[in-house]
Amino acid sequence: MFGKRSDGNSIQPGSAIPPSPGALAGGAAAAPAAAKAATVPDLQATPAGGQRPTAQAAPPAKPAPAVDHTRRSENYYDIKSTIFNALIDAIDLTQLAQLDREAARDEIRDIVNEIIALKDVVMSIAEQEELLEDICNDVLGYGPLEPLLARDDIADIMVNGASTVFIEVNGKMQKTGVRFRDNAQLLNICQRIVSQVGRRVDEASPICDARLPDGSRVNVIVPPLAIDGAALTIRKFKKDRLKLPDLVRFKSVTPEGATLLEIIGRVRCNVLISGGTGSGKTTLLNCLTGYIDHDERIITCEDAAELQLQQPHTVRLETRPPNLEGEGSISMRDLVKNCLRMRPERIIVGEVRGPEAFDLLQAMNTGHDGSMGTLHANSPREALSRLESMITMGGFALPSKTIKEMITGSIDVIVQASRLRDGSRKITHITEVVGMEGDVIITQDLFVYEIVGEDANGKIIGRHRSTGIARPHFWDRARYYNEERRLADALEKAETRNDGNE
Ligand SMILES: Nc1ncnc2c1ncn2[C@@H]1O[C@H](COP(=O)(O)OP(=O)(O)OP(=O)(O)O)[C@@H](O)[C@H]1O
Ligand SMILES: [Mg+2]
Repeated sequence: MFGKRSDGNSIQPGSAIPPSPGALAGGAAAAPAAAKAATVPDLQATPAGGQRPTAQAAPPAKPAPAVDHTRRSENYYDIKSTIFNALIDAIDLTQLAQLDREAARDEIRDIVNEIIALKDVVMSIAEQEELLEDICNDVLGYGPLEPLLARDDIADIMVNGASTVFIEVNGKMQKTGVRFRDNAQLLNICQRIVSQVGRRVDEASPICDARLPDGSRVNVIVPPLAIDGAALTIRKFKKDRLKLPDLVRFKSVTPEGATLLEIIGRVRCNVLISGGTGSGKTTLLNCLTGYIDHDERIITCEDAAELQLQQPHTVRLETRPPNLEGEGSISMRDLVKNCLRMRPERIIVGEVRGPEAFDLLQAMNTGHDGSMGTLHANSPREALSRLESMITMGGFALPSKTIKEMITGSIDVIVQASRLRDGSRKITHITEVVGMEGDVIITQDLFVYEIVGEDANGKIIGRHRSTGIARPHFWDRARYYNEERRLADALEKAETRNDGNE
């Protein structure tokens, strides 16, 4: 048979695995997959029938998962391990690699069926299918991660060593039953992921950023730095990117707040999006860039390209880590500085976290209005002081007042994103940077989100309200772009809503 090594005796008949009724269902009697689906909760992505799609074949939106790997027994992993080892002995991986995915699957299916028969494993057809799917994922894809990668409702996948995998769904962290055979398998899969972008991860270079072919952002840190086995973090790429109307639908912002953001994006305000980790900063940046006119030249600088700009005149740049000899790194600062020589009309920085803050502010100050960036901070005030300390720590010997003046002269608006404790994401502030009074930067909130309380289910009750400012500082800018009517309407409507219409 094709793909087998020539000695042909790797599969030893008679080395029987004890019959294992229900191995896949965690000790319950073997049951058809459909029945299983009805009885187990839904942490794992397996559409009814036990047939899980591969990442390549995955349709865009995944239905609710049906089979939960939490219920899998040790016995299942033992059987899988034995069959897997026999398969690896029997198959020629080099030849397999030359096949397309479907042909490779068929090849693996034939051999696995043969092994199951020879080793006397008792399994239902549905269980065999599930096992086969798992093994194909191990050999051809990202192993136990495949079903999670195929789900579109997951925002993050966090692997903390071989036997602990968390996911974030609807803003909430959940522990899954997904596990890897051992740390070696996990490391192998990490390696597979990073090698696709030409990188390596091992003891010599134990930290690595990468991207999956679908655009998901990946970070890997392996032993000895990660003490309990490799830690893999994946920010899933949303195929259907969220737009402002979606954020309104999710009640992250009111329709008037969204109009205000739309105008801020269009009229070339310089914007800083501030927020905690995973609070929705990049999503918001994506939304705002949606309102940039299509004839503007935009240059984006990111550590791992996540933004999805729709404008035709966009240049995307990505930083580069140093190679194994510690050379060749291109920092965010290098990119932003280079941007200035590329005749940009707007510069978009995925995340400002170091001395590039200085160059971005300078760009904003020198005719690149409408530039934007995100930054980690918990409030607009904190965002301003973080910006100042990034510049100070970047070695620029400037007096604090000069830096503050530079910030005031550059940033027009700060939009604050937050993930609340109930998992919901809100835009909590739309704040203008107005000027300086003495040594203090003066800001004014246009929109804020107020938490009122919590309902019986722990869901946070709150409301967005305008602060009653009828003429924001960027009014003239809005007038220049013929947006002042819409701006006035949005602010007025927001005020009426404050009067109890919400
Ligand atoms: N308003 C929202 N409502 C629901 N989900 C959202 C909202 N905003 C963002 N998300 C989802 O939350 C996840 C994290 O969003 P995003 O990548 O924008 O966060 P971030 O603040 O940039 O994170 P990081 O700090 O890791 O860069 C994504 O899956 C995104 O689709
Ligand atoms: Mg981000």
